[in-house]
Amino acid sequence: MIHTAYSGASLHDARLREAYKVCLRLLRRRYPSESDCLAVLPAKVLLSLSPVLASGSVIDDLSDNGAASADERAGQASAWIRMLEEDIERGDSTDPVRRAMAHLTRTLDLPADSVRLMHERIARDAVKATPQTWQEWAEYQRAALGPILIAVDCVTSRLGAPLIMSAGHEAALVDAMLGFQLTDDLTDFAEDLERGYVKLPAEALDGCGVSAEDLLARRWTPATARLVRAATERARAWLQPQEPTVHWSITSALLTRAFTNVYLAALHKVERAGPALLSQKVTLSSAARQRILLPTRAAAAVAWKLSPYARHTPTAPTPHEQRAAADLSGRLPAPRGRMLPPAPHPSGARPPVLNPAALPRHVAVIMDGNGRWAADRALPRAEGYRAGANALRDVVDGALEIGLPCLTVYAFSTENWNRSSTEVEAILDVVRDNIADQELFDRDLRFCWAGVPDGLPKDLVDGLRERERTTQHRTSLTFTMCVNYGGRSELAQAARSLARAAMAGEINPAHIDQRALARHLPHPVPDVDLLWRTGGEQRTSNFLPWQSSYAELLFTPTYWPDIDRRDLWQSITTYTQRQRRYGTAPIENTAPMSSSK
Ligand code: IPE
Ligand code: IPE
Ligand code: MG
Repeated sequence: MIHTAYSGASLHDARLREAYKVCLRLLRRRYPSESDCLAVLPAKVLLSLSPVLASGSVIDDLSDNGAASADERAGQASAWIRMLEEDIERGDSTDPVRRAMAHLTRTLDLPADSVRLMHERIARDAVKATPQTWQEWAEYQRAALGPILIAVDCVTSRLGAPLIMSAGHEAALVDAMLGFQLTDDLTDFAEDLERGYVKLPAEALDGCGVSAEDLLARRWTPATARLVRAATERARAWLQPQEPTVHWSITSALLTRAFTNVYLAALHKVERAGPALLSQKVTLSSAARQRILLPTRAAAAVAWKLSPYARHTPTAPTPHEQRAAADLSGRLPAPRGRMLPPAPHPSGARPPVLNPAALPRHVAVIMDGNGRWAADRALPRAEGYRAGANALRDVVDGALEIGLPCLTVYAFSTENWNRSSTEVEAILDVVRDNIADQELFDRDLRFCWAGVPDGLPKDLVDGLRERERTTQHRTSLTFTMCVNYGGRSELAQAARSLARAAMAGEINPAHIDQRALARHLPHPVPDVDLLWRTGGEQRTSNFLPWQSSYAELLFTPTYWPDIDRRDLWQSITTYTQRQRRYGTAPIENTAPMSSSK
């Protein structure tokens, strides 16, 4: 199965295949039970998850390395994370796990932030803080488990098999994972004692009259038995099998069932272990696990055949493949659900054929000139905004047709509150109409909102958030609308968040660098390749100052309502003729363009 998955994932390169194999082997060795559970996923999904989980496991090991001091462990883990980031940027590595991770990040276009957050939360384990209360214990675990789920979901949803369907669903999954985590802590009780740790909160020990010294000295008393019973009961409560609802994904229903069954069996063994729990790790035999997982595996085989996953393009297409597909069929492959292809332009115009490697990944647009367009026609300014909405719809279709991965548009700036209330209302009414435009959202686009709710009508904020939620698993075009957005206030928000993290001891102020700041920005907007402003003004008006610091700038005279997708394509063509240098000397006698990315 895995062999077909290798070819399905286009892993024809022997070094890459080996890298993924190393990840799978590492997971099997480190987490045999969990690997068995994960096998309810289609082979290709499992293969793609393996670098994410294996990298987490490497960091976990570095943070757990008993031979080193807490500082050394934290240093080793963060050095590994740094090397991974560099390797992702280079697209290759000397280390197999990082090589697979670099390949996966590129092919699935994984958001670096999600994976990094998962790694950093795992690395926190280097500092072995003993929680005082169960609440503290759960909070600490939640902070690590949430990012793991999200990183997993990033991979699985790109392959058409999303894990998380909604915020409520995510919370339910995190709770189930608390049960897995506590069971893990119990099965590994002896190993942790060996290393001098008691992972249960002080509250649990005190409540049963057990001291950490007793445990470390492996003294088994009736009080210890009470402690184990109380902890297993708590784990069982979290593990209570939840009936999957229609709102659950197949991925989550199968994984929860597999993990819950295996962990409940492990808990049962913990309960029966008695004094041996303090001296010996509790394990389920491989045969027992296979027996437990048999029904879930059978269900999985049927479920995947019937699920939309089976109809989904087996490999998440790279941007290059997407463009090729779009060129061939005139539309992008819709990964799931009924999605409308972009409507053709009335003139019959088709996107220009450009070197895929030279295309921008992220175009950000300042849609300016609506008011002047209206004034030229002796119309109220509101008419300009309404006409601008049609232009936007056409440009989105053009972005889909040319296979642009990210389009961000500036719809309302925090400075625009300086306009009259009638004008503000007219602009926000048009944004409301954009959000209500079902035909627009029937396109395969993932909608994001960048901006702050302050001052916006509640129904508009709800509408923006709802569109974000319902399109979060789409894959073709990330379409970000900046509404009540201000670049400087976004930077101030990042500064506040960093300061809070530093005060909480989560980050060393000396380690605050560009990446750390970028991570604390409130919206996951990637670096802009092309910043395009219509309407003739040559300024950026507080739009994405951080993300655009190396963008190519393009100012064109046409007022926004007169723009259509052909202007977008022309801007992109202009971009491909630029040479991005990032501080290097000009390259002579070569074809223009080609970013050094
Ligand atoms: C820009 O158009 C869009 C918004 C601010 C909503 P303008 O309203 O600034 O148009 P001009 O610059 O006055 O023509
Ligand atoms: C920028 O345009 C804001 C939007 C396009 C939403 P403005 O027209 O408000 O910018 P300035 O005031 O001319 O700089
Ligand atoms: Mg303007």
